[in-house]
Amino acid sequence: MDQSAKVGILTVSDRASAGEYEDRGGPAVAAYLDEVLQSAWSPVRSIIPDEQELIAAELRRLADDEGCCLIVTTGGTGPAARDVTPEATEAVCHKMMPGFGEQMRAVSLKVVPTAILSRQTAGVRGRSLIINLPGQPKAVRECLEAVMPAVPYCIDLLEGPRMETDPDCCKAFRPKGK
Ligand code: MTE
Repeated sequence: MDQSAKVGILTVSDRASAGEYEDRGGPAVAAYLDEVLQSAWSPVRSIIPDEQELIAAELRRLADDEGCCLIVTTGGTGPAARDVTPEATEAVCHKMMPGFGEQMRAVSLKVVPTAILSRQTAGVRGRSLIINLPGQPKAVRECLEAVMPAVPYCIDLLEGPRMETDPDCCKAFRPKGK
């Protein structure tokens, strides 16, 4: 059986999905995970426009059909009319994990005051952890660094594959003996 962790990487952007500009958020997520994960993982990538129903449908597909243990979205978390990624995330999650958004904003606010503009959140659908990130590649990295130490144990609790991180990049925390 394939024990590699399937990770959904979902870029939410009207312009990137229309090919008007290159997606930089999705590749930034993949590059960070490549750097930090020592255990096998494989990405399932998609790019869709800022439409709540489309985002929700894609999150359901990545969780239910693809079986991704982790789904990372990038983009659509701000206050603009078209920013609806957090709403789509809430609509598909069985439980919300507000600590992820709190931690990402707390860390990001030390870097940039506009971090307060991101409504990014996280939640669990079935056995998938869904985490929202802003769209900018720099923000992707800052936010992932802020929460990654807690991600492997969260995936353990959801009965997903065991994720190992490179301790030089990210010290994943697991309670003693886990
Ligand atoms: N968080 C970090 N760490 N770094 C950033 O540069 N940019 C902010 C915020 N969060 C930023 C950040 C800005 S300017 C906006 S508008 C919001 O994320 C929402 O971004 P999004 O609409 O691309 O999701």
